[in-house]
Amino acid sequence: MIFFQYEDAEQKIKKLLVSKKSPNVLQDVVDVLYEDFDTYNWVGIYLVKGEHLFLGPWNGTQATEHTEIPIGTGVCGAAAKTGRTELVDDVSKDKRYLSCFLSTRSEIVVPIKKKNIVIGEIDIDSDAPAAFTINDTVFLEKVADMLSQHI
Ligand code: SME
Repeated sequence: MIFFQYEDAEQKIKKLLVSKKSPNVLQDVVDVLYEDFDTYNWVGIYLVKGEHLFLGPWNGTQATEHTEIPIGTGVCGAAAKTGRTELVDDVSKDKRYLSCFLSTRSEIVVPIKKKNIVIGEIDIDSDAPAAFTINDTVFLEKVADMLSQHI
Protein backbone atom coordinates (compact mmCIF):
# COMPACT_ATOMS: atom_id res chain seq x y z
CA MET A 1 0.00 0.00 0.00
CA ILE A 2 1.44 3.33 -1.06
CA PHE A 3 1.62 5.75 1.85
CA PHE A 4 0.06 8.73 0.06
CA GLN A 5 -3.17 6.79 -0.33
CA TYR A 6 -3.76 7.04 3.40
CA GLU A 7 -3.05 10.78 3.44
CA ASP A 8 -5.23 11.29 0.40
CA ALA A 9 -8.16 9.41 1.91
CA GLU A 10 -7.69 11.17 5.27
CA GLN A 11 -7.90 14.57 3.57
CA LYS A 12 -10.98 13.50 1.60
CA ILE A 13 -12.71 12.34 4.79
CA LYS A 14 -11.71 15.49 6.69
CA LYS A 15 -13.22 17.61 3.92
CA LEU A 16 -16.41 15.57 3.93
CA LEU A 17 -16.80 15.91 7.66
CA VAL A 18 -16.24 19.69 7.79
CA SER A 19 -18.31 20.50 4.74
CA LYS A 20 -21.32 18.31 5.43
CA LYS A 21 -23.67 17.99 8.33
CA SER A 22 -25.98 15.61 6.48
CA PRO A 23 -27.19 12.38 8.12
CA ASN A 24 -25.51 10.58 5.22
CA VAL A 25 -22.03 11.62 6.23
CA LEU A 26 -21.29 8.18 7.74
CA GLN A 27 -22.29 6.52 4.47
CA ASP A 28 -20.07 8.97 2.57
CA VAL A 29 -17.08 8.01 4.72
CA VAL A 30 -17.79 4.28 4.28
CA ASP A 31 -17.92 4.85 0.51
CA VAL A 32 -14.54 6.63 0.46
CA LEU A 33 -12.93 3.76 2.39
CA TYR A 34 -14.50 1.12 0.14
CA GLU A 35 -13.65 2.90 -3.10
CA ASP A 36 -10.13 4.11 -2.27
CA PHE A 37 -8.59 0.87 -1.01
CA ASP A 38 -8.54 -2.22 -3.20
CA THR A 39 -8.14 -4.57 -0.26
CA TYR A 40 -11.11 -3.14 1.68
CA ASN A 41 -13.70 -5.51 0.21
CA TRP A 42 -16.51 -4.85 2.68
CA VAL A 43 -16.72 -1.75 4.87
CA GLY A 44 -19.36 -1.13 7.51
CA ILE A 45 -20.05 0.98 10.57
CA TYR A 46 -21.75 -0.63 13.56
CA LEU A 47 -23.35 1.55 16.23
CA VAL A 48 -23.68 0.64 19.91
CA LYS A 49 -27.17 0.60 21.35
CA GLY A 50 -27.45 -0.92 24.83
CA GLU A 51 -25.74 -4.31 24.85
CA HIS A 52 -25.69 -4.74 21.07
CA LEU A 53 -24.02 -3.48 17.92
CA PHE A 54 -26.34 -2.55 15.07
CA LEU A 55 -25.18 -2.31 11.48
CA GLY A 56 -25.37 1.20 10.06
CA PRO A 57 -24.03 2.30 6.67
CA TRP A 58 -22.03 -0.25 4.69
CA ASN A 59 -20.60 -0.80 1.22
CA GLY A 60 -19.58 -4.04 -0.45
CA THR A 61 -20.84 -6.54 -2.98
CA GLN A 62 -22.99 -8.48 -0.48
CA ALA A 63 -25.15 -7.73 2.53
CA THR A 64 -24.23 -9.39 5.84
CA GLU A 65 -26.65 -11.38 7.94
CA HIS A 66 -24.89 -10.05 11.04
CA THR A 67 -26.84 -6.81 11.38
CA GLU A 68 -27.10 -7.12 15.18
CA ILE A 69 -24.20 -8.46 17.26
CA PRO A 70 -24.16 -8.77 21.06
CA ILE A 71 -21.23 -6.89 22.64
CA GLY A 72 -18.64 -9.53 23.53
CA THR A 73 -19.56 -11.79 20.58
CA GLY A 74 -17.42 -12.15 17.44
CA VAL A 75 -14.45 -10.00 16.51
CA CYS A 76 -16.75 -6.98 16.35
CA GLY A 77 -18.15 -7.64 19.81
CA ALA A 78 -14.64 -8.12 21.21
CA ALA A 79 -13.48 -4.73 19.94
CA ALA A 80 -16.62 -3.09 21.34
CA LYS A 81 -16.04 -4.73 24.72
CA THR A 82 -12.36 -3.85 25.12
CA GLY A 83 -12.25 -0.59 23.15
CA ARG A 84 -9.17 -1.88 21.33
CA THR A 85 -8.61 -2.36 17.62
CA GLU A 86 -8.85 -6.02 16.55
CA LEU A 87 -6.70 -7.14 13.65
CA VAL A 88 -7.23 -10.67 12.39
CA ASP A 89 -4.71 -11.83 9.77
CA ASP A 90 -6.43 -15.18 9.16
CA VAL A 91 -10.10 -15.33 10.07
CA SER A 92 -10.15 -19.14 9.77
CA LYS A 93 -7.81 -19.33 12.79
CA ASP A 94 -9.82 -17.00 15.07
CA LYS A 95 -12.46 -18.85 17.07
CA ARG A 96 -14.34 -15.62 17.77
CA TYR A 97 -14.88 -14.90 14.09
CA LEU A 98 -18.49 -14.68 12.87
CA SER A 99 -18.48 -15.52 9.20
CA CYS A 100 -20.25 -13.15 6.84
CA PHE A 101 -18.71 -13.79 3.45
CA LEU A 102 -17.01 -16.96 2.20
CA SER A 103 -14.35 -14.86 0.46
CA THR A 104 -13.14 -13.05 3.60
CA ARG A 105 -9.58 -13.93 4.70
CA SER A 106 -8.69 -11.09 7.09
CA GLU A 107 -10.52 -8.43 9.10
CA ILE A 108 -9.93 -5.24 11.08
CA VAL A 109 -12.33 -3.72 13.60
CA VAL A 110 -11.63 -0.23 14.96
CA PRO A 111 -13.71 1.13 17.83
CA ILE A 112 -15.19 4.64 17.62
CA LYS A 113 -15.03 6.22 21.07
CA LYS A 114 -16.44 9.31 22.73
CA LYS A 115 -14.80 10.19 26.07
CA ASN A 116 -13.36 6.67 26.12
CA ILE A 117 -16.78 5.00 25.74
CA VAL A 118 -17.26 2.84 22.64
CA ILE A 119 -20.16 4.25 20.61
CA GLY A 120 -19.54 2.35 17.39
CA GLU A 121 -16.90 0.78 15.21
CA ILE A 122 -15.52 0.53 11.71
CA ASP A 123 -15.46 -3.07 10.45
CA ILE A 124 -13.53 -3.98 7.30
CA ASP A 125 -13.26 -7.40 5.67
CA SER A 126 -10.65 -8.25 3.06
CA ASP A 127 -10.48 -11.11 0.59
CA ALA A 128 -6.67 -10.97 0.92
CA PRO A 129 -4.91 -12.74 3.81
CA ALA A 130 -3.22 -10.40 6.33
CA ALA A 131 -4.40 -7.39 4.34
CA PHE A 132 -4.21 -4.93 7.25
CA THR A 133 -0.98 -3.45 8.60
CA ILE A 134 -0.02 -0.95 11.26
CA ASN A 135 -0.57 1.73 8.58
CA ASP A 136 -4.21 0.70 8.27
CA THR A 137 -4.58 0.66 12.05
CA VAL A 138 -3.14 4.18 12.44
CA PHE A 139 -5.17 5.53 9.53
CA LEU A 140 -8.46 3.93 10.60
CA GLU A 141 -8.03 4.99 14.23
CA LYS A 142 -7.71 8.58 12.95
CA VAL A 143 -10.88 8.12 10.89
CA ALA A 144 -12.68 6.68 13.94
CA ASP A 145 -11.61 9.73 15.98
CA MET A 146 -12.96 12.06 13.33
CA LEU A 147 -16.23 10.11 13.12
CA SER A 148 -16.88 10.23 16.85
CA GLN A 149 -17.90 13.89 16.51
CA HIS A 150 -20.59 12.90 13.99
CA ILE A 151 -22.39 10.12 15.87
N1 SME B 1 -16.86 -10.91 11.17
C1 SME B 1 -17.48 -10.10 12.16
C2 SME B 1 -18.97 -9.97 11.92
C3 SME B 1 -19.32 -8.84 11.01
S1 SME B 1 -19.07 -9.19 9.35
O1 SME B 1 -17.59 -9.25 9.14
C4 SME B 1 -19.62 -7.94 8.41
C5 SME B 1 -17.21 -10.66 13.56
O2 SME B 1 -16.56 -11.68 13.69
O3 SME B 1 -17.66 -10.04 14.54
